Amino acid sequence: MKKIGILTSGGDCQGLNAAIRGVAKGLYEEFDDDVLIYGIKDGYRGLIAGEYSLMKKYEFSGILTVGGTILGTSRQPFKMMRKIEEDNVDKVAAMKESYKRMGLDCLVILGGNGTHKTANLLSEEGLNVVSLPKTIDNDLWGTDITFGFHSALDVATDVIDRLHTTATSHGRIFVVDIMGHKAGWLNLYAGMAGGADIILIPEIPYDINKIANVLEKRNNDGKKFSIIAVAEGAISVEESKMGKKEFKAHLAQRGSVSVSNIIADKLSEKINQEIRVVIPGHIQRGGSPSAYDRVLSTRFGAGAASLIKEEKYGYMMGMKNNEVVPVPLAEVAGKLKTVPIDNEVLLAARKIGISFGD
Ligand code: F6P
Repeated sequence: MKKIGILTSGGDCQGLNAAIRGVAKGLYEEFDDDVLIYGIKDGYRGLIAGEYSLMKKYEFSGILTVGGTILGTSRQPFKMMRKIEEDNVDKVAAMKESYKRMGLDCLVILGGNGTHKTANLLSEEGLNVVSLPKTIDNDLWGTDITFGFHSALDVATDVIDRLHTTATSHGRIFVVDIMGHKAGWLNLYAGMAGGADIILIPEIPYDINKIANVLEKRNNDGKKFSIIAVAEGAISVEESKMGKKEFKAHLAQRGSVSVSNIIADKLSEKINQEIRVVIPGHIQRGGSPSAYDRVLSTRFGAGAASLIKEEKYGYMMGMKNNEVVPVPLAEVAGKLKTVPIDNEVLLAARKIGISFGD
């Protein structure tokens, strides 16, 4: 009898339940039902607190199309994992203890960047771990694509489509804020799919005067509306020159004001046209997974089950050249996959005259 634990950690996204289902169904097939699956509540928080329950086979049915995660999730910062806080809990020891108490043969972890650092830590601590790459940001190293990205892309594109019609009617500039703090994948793709005129991503610092020039030129060309797609982590040329400490203090001072609002305010000093800001925020992570993500999550889930059958631990299932392949956790942990400035999609955008504000 195999015993497998499963948890989802970090920000939720579409496709988590589809992946959980893929893992579970794959395991029941691989082990001819001779397997017990423990669902761990709210990610690493539940593993630390020992909150888990034995799941029934039927609980993995009917969840393919459901958004969010049936297991719950939480953000447990990696940098705090080895720190003993006020509650006096040794988090790493507590997680190992829960693993032992459940008698697990393997722990399946679904998550993004922070989650993978802790997954690697647990693997280094001797636990059998297999992980799956989730995040709408698509910024996980070791995989061409993460599940959640395409669903969020569909939502973000729909938002930009809808803004187009109202922008045209009113002859306005719309600044739309797309998720992605450190990597601009979602904004690059949504901006291109939604026909944005200017796309600002964290990898390419923007110059507000260049943006104003593009807007003015569009106006002179008789194009009375414009769409600026801004990644929430976009930075100006001035900000890109700041040291780490200075930038942190600068962000703290900015508080909860979004970069889109800052850009809109700066542009309104330079441009005589109505500007509106739209922040779809967590709507991008909500709702049912796209058909693409349902297939992707299922493929990753089935891949994880096969890996467990082979007793091959310490890997994340990744996608390379449209093939699901195991990637060592040590190679994934702590590395960010940002948009290279010579990325083919980015270059194609430039070729058709989309500005990146540089
Ligand atoms: O990591 C996914 C993500 O949706 C990012 O795009 C976004 O910056 C962040 O999570 C938001 O985090 P939270 O859900 O904690 O507000």
